[in-house]
Amino acid sequence: MDPRLQLRVQRYGWDRAAEVYDRAWSGPLEPAQSALLEMADLAPGEGVVEVACGSGLVTLRAADAVGPDGRVVATDLSEGMLERARTAVDQAGLEQVTLLRRDAGALELPDDEFDVAISALGLMYVPDPGVALREMARVLRPGGRAAVAVWGERKRCGWADLFPIVDARVETEVCPLFFQLGTGDALQYVMEESGFREIEVRRLETTSHFPSEARVLEAAFAGGPVAMAYSRFDEATRGEVHREYLDSVEEYRSGDEYLIPGEFAVVRGEAG
Ligand SMILES: C[S@@+](CC[C@H](N)C(=O)[O-])C[C@H]1O[C@@H](n2cnc3c(N)ncnc32)[C@H](O)[C@@H]1O
Repeated sequence: MDPRLQLRVQRYGWDRAAEVYDRAWSGPLEPAQSALLEMADLAPGEGVVEVACGSGLVTLRAADAVGPDGRVVATDLSEGMLERARTAVDQAGLEQVTLLRRDAGALELPDDEFDVAISALGLMYVPDPGVALREMARVLRPGGRAAVAVWGERKRCGWADLFPIVDARVETEVCPLFFQLGTGDALQYVMEESGFREIEVRRLETTSHFPSEARVLEAAFAGGPVAMAYSRFDEATRGEVHREYLDSVEEYRSGDEYLIPGEFAVVRGEAG
């Protein structure tokens, strides 16, 4: 996919997803976000840059960890997601947080500025994860650390048929390399190539709980990475993709609920 098109699809797609994102995804993503924060091991007074911060679910926890003497510069491509983060940060009174609209590939921040760089569930969406990781390495002081979480292997993510179901109806693929980083040693390899060392990888197997058919559909279509394509489907096409997706996750249904398996890869490394 043309990288500029991918950035536009991501930016405006996540703008659309922002309203329902927390309701849809805060539960399923929590294990990966917690593992990332544990591996980042933030300490009071540290300076943190966050890439693809979304609605601020990790930002708030990072700000608590570094406290009022630290700071968190949290960045995302989508103004809609940043607006949600801004509201949450203001409500929590966290003056140590700055929110900026930035592409992960061009942070526009000074070299050697931060102690820690973090990114939760964002690098699957960027046109070139290596470029984003090199940006994270560049803004870290020497010896600073990075922690990154991505979805794991496709075959371990029970919701993965979502992409071919949507791609069958739109000309451009929504997330062409979505599962690549979480497969095998790919994330470790790209971290090494981007200048990190002392790399540690954890894989987490999880079960995502969705309480109803409406909520499993909302998370997949309106609240997630295909929100842009979905917003352009007419009612008939929406009905078709709903049916196909529900068929694909039928084996994980238990009464009205869905318990869908997933895997995350979480990695930590030190800037050289
Ligand atoms: C699944 S959300 C994750 C948000 C948050 N980190 C969390 O854990 O809830 C993915 C985020 O990646 C952002 N994103 C996608 N492409 C991006 C890019 N090129 N640069 C920065 N952010 C990007 C989206 O706007 C969205 O907010």
